[in-house]
Amino acid sequence: MTVENIRNVVILGAGTMGPGIAATFARYGYATTLSDVDAKQIAKAGASVEFVFDTLRAGGFATISDVDEARARLTLAVDASDAIAAADFVLENAPERLELKRSIFASLSEKTREDAILASDTSGIPISALQEGLPSPGRVVGMHWSNPPHLIPVIEIVKGAQTSTATMDTTKAVVESLRMLPAVVDRDVPGFVENRILYAIMREALHLLDERVASAEAIDTIVRWGIGYKLGVVGPLRLLDMAGLDIYTSVASYLNRDLCNGSGISSTVTAKVSDGKLGIKTQAGLFDYTREEVERLARERGRLFVASKKALSG
Ligand SMILES: NC(=O)c1ccc[n+]([C@@H]2O[C@H](COP(=O)([O-])OP(=O)(O)OC[C@H]3O[C@@H](n4cnc5c(N)ncnc54)[C@H](O)[C@@H]3O)[C@@H](O)[C@H]2O)c1
Repeated sequence: MTVENIRNVVILGAGTMGPGIAATFARYGYATTLSDVDAKQIAKAGASVEFVFDTLRAGGFATISDVDEARARLTLAVDASDAIAAADFVLENAPERLELKRSIFASLSEKTREDAILASDTSGIPISALQEGLPSPGRVVGMHWSNPPHLIPVIEIVKGAQTSTATMDTTKAVVESLRMLPAVVDRDVPGFVENRILYAIMREALHLLDERVASAEAIDTIVRWGIGYKLGVVGPLRLLDMAGLDIYTSVASYLNRDLCNGSGISSTVTAKVSDGKLGIKTQAGLFDYTREEVERLARERGRLFVASKKALSG
């Protein structure tokens, strides 16, 4: 299967990630079916897709007629069996549970054409574990988007132990056709690259909070306007070359041994979870949020993602 032959795409799972991903495929010309086993999710997905189209239009990533054409290419369905049988490319976006994903891939292996590519948006389950026991594991690949998927430019293309080179190449070309940036992960270690680095940052941030080194507000400000600001322009490895590997060697020789290397969960997080304070969805977590703030912050984040995407790619 080459990218030129891919017309029909199925996205399985219309939760947090599905609508933005489906809207992106439809925006860039693919006949796209967004499907979910839960009819309530499909009932909500229409509004989520419209929100994504509005964001793309307001951000200058699509015109009104682009959006009209994309809407005409997008189908929402609880039963996607016909679309699955005709699919050239299927992306699974179901919850992050190994057994569930394995059963989805076993079913897709039977119900799709043999040359269709089967991708997973897993955040970190090794693709090799999803390939085990399948009749044609070479067509199974990781395609890890970031949230919000219609705005964050990079998509990890993850090679499982049995993923074929052709599947990798075509998936990379699909990502390029969506005007996104593909980055290949050659070995499917848990968490791949993005979440391993993100979780290392979050572990240290939580450790500093647990140890009362600084307030939550101060930690976020320092990471956002110090590290984050820099990392939007230059990756950590080029940053090392900028700083000088000799300087890194001197700092790392005393600092590395002091960094958090625990495998447990932060005591602050454990206490919050047991109090039912789960973050924005409960209006309380590491910070507190009023209802008005939740909506304002979501709008503000969207506006800044659009502005920084334009500024950094310009
Ligand atoms: N949420 C994020 O920020 C994020 C970011 C990147 C990757 N991911 C990954 O994407 C995947 C989906 O995450 P999410 O946050 O959208 O999950 P979610 O729980 O919000 O949505 C998953 C949806 O899948 C549906 N579903 C379950 N079984 C299904 C099946 N057999 N066929 C079709 N639909 C089915 C559920 O009804 C649900 O609506 C996960 O693997 C997750 O790790 C999530």
